Amino acid sequence: MNKITAAITATGSYVPDFVLSNKVLETLVDTNDEWITSRTGIKERRILKEEGQGTSYLAIQAAKNLIEKANIDPKEIDMVILCTATPDMLVASTGVYVASQIGATNAFAYDLQAACSSFLFGMSTASAYVESGKYKKVLLIGADKMSSIIDYTDRSTCIIFGDGAGAVLFEPNHEGLGLQDEFLRSDGVGREFLKIDAGGSILPSSEETVKNKQHFVHQDGKTVFKYAVSGMADVSEKIMERNNLVKEDINWLVAHQANRRIIDATANRIGLEEDKVLINIEKYGNTTSATLPLLLGDFESKLKKGDNIIFAAFGGGFTWGAIYLKWAYNSNK
Ligand code: COA
Repeated sequence: MNKITAAITATGSYVPDFVLSNKVLETLVDTNDEWITSRTGIKERRILKEEGQGTSYLAIQAAKNLIEKANIDPKEIDMVILCTATPDMLVASTGVYVASQIGATNAFAYDLQAACSSFLFGMSTASAYVESGKYKKVLLIGADKMSSIIDYTDRSTCIIFGDGAGAVLFEPNHEGLGLQDEFLRSDGVGREFLKIDAGGSILPSSEETVKNKQHFVHQDGKTVFKYAVSGMADVSEKIMERNNLVKEDINWLVAHQANRRIIDATANRIGLEEDKVLINIEKYGNTTSATLPLLLGDFESKLKKGDNIIFAAFGGGFTWGAIYLKWAYNSNK
């Protein structure tokens, strides 16, 4: 086969050691373990506690984990795309710093932001660079320090989010494995329902914005939930249909981990049994850009060469979509 496809050839991941359990959240806000577990599926999440460490720290650890596992020379990496909604700082690109820190000195780098769909959209971007034939090793990282933008007195958000990072390497494949198709969507109607009001160009930071807690994530959970359920299920169904895939053809659903009920709704719509749905939301909560690569990291040993995987995500903006990918290797773990 002559056409170059873009395949994932390695994964890496990292979560901080500190565990924030539902039990501890019960002491911070008016909530309880039973409510959180039944409404979201989350039992605990990881938090990066060390002062002075930002999203780059998480991303660097995940990238180093991949480099070590795959035994590659970071100098061979052509580009680094860092998917994140929580960059270290505004303006100076976090991905650039990460690339330098991991020794990817021959790479160029930048950040990609599409809220919880960042990594999914990043998979499309990374693949396109590889398919073009211009670049051979594209490192795609998803990392978010969500704890830096969460109000731990707001029970509608603090129970959901956690910190983490994951990375994958995209390389050319000549056996037709890797990314097969994508269906990516966005709709500005979502801007009102999930956002951080201040600190951007519309409402720059001021004493007032800090006092009003406008630097934290605010969401209308019910509305986001409604859009997420139909959005993620619709695109998953659509990508299967247009690739003539039936449920028996699908080996795994790798879906954004925002709420167990949203994942279950997507799995139900495409008729997948539970054992084909990768889930780790109970351990990490919603890590935004890191959920998909953290799933690949956790379940890598189950994935077999040629497996058909449907990736799906939904995020702020709104942004959402699905990707159909054929897994390219057997892990030797
Ligand atoms: N603990 C206990 N009770 C809570 C609570 C909490 N943490 N949060 C809300 N409640 C209460 C509400 O006040 C409400 O009480 P009321 O009926 O007396 O008014 C009740 O529980 C139901 O609230 P509701 O907001 O309807 O719950 P929900 O079932 O929609 O679940 C979310 C809330 C946030 C878990 C859910 O809406 C969700 O997951 N939304 C999508 C979030 C998401 O995916 N965001 C990221 C996008 S990628």
